[in-house]
Amino acid sequence: MTTVAIFASGSGSNAEQIIRRLAARPQVRCLVLSNRPDAYVLERAARLGVPARVFTREEFYQTGQVLAYLQAQAVDLVVLAGFLWLVPAPLVQAFPGRIVNIHPALLPRHGGKGMYGAKVHTAVLATGDRQSGITIHYVNEQYDEGQIIRQVACPVLPTDTPDTLAARVHELEYAHYPQVVEQLLAQLPG
Ligand code: GRF
Repeated sequence: MTTVAIFASGSGSNAEQIIRRLAARPQVRCLVLSNRPDAYVLERAARLGVPARVFTREEFYQTGQVLAYLQAQAVDLVVLAGFLWLVPAPLVQAFPGRIVNIHPALLPRHGGKGMYGAKVHTAVLATGDRQSGITIHYVNEQYDEGQIIRQVACPVLPTDTPDTLAARVHELEYAHYPQVVEQLLAQLPG
């Protein structure tokens, strides 16, 4: 059995796409973890029959309970999908090369602390970039700085608003993130 833990703070549409893709594999199970008790991802998880757990800041950064939970569940791969907290060093070190994130822009542009959601797309439009896209990367102790696994670009149109650009980027995310997760699972040792 291979176990994938998906961390999400909000809507969880990427989480849902990944869960649906992996549902075709009986030897893979998903778990959802969220730092927000009101995150819509929890409703998605319930609908999809995926176990979910909400955790506090203390459990994530101080007591090590989130790390202990991942280890107790024998998690093989950690997938961040719209998860807004910085992953603490002990967790990064416990899962070397096994934590991935998706960022809705072409890193290193428009990344770093506080750059998420509509803020990213607003920044892309404000700087006049002609293209944006997605970056799927390994996670290290800094926001958005781990080694890049895959980048895919899309055009930025003169008529774009943050919402229209976000929609175009989301389509790229749904097309690529589940596929990269499958690729990483295929590469896991053992
Ligand atoms: C996505 O755009 C992702 O790139 C970013 O946060 C957003 C999450 O959207 N990290 P959703 O919760 O998956 O709908």
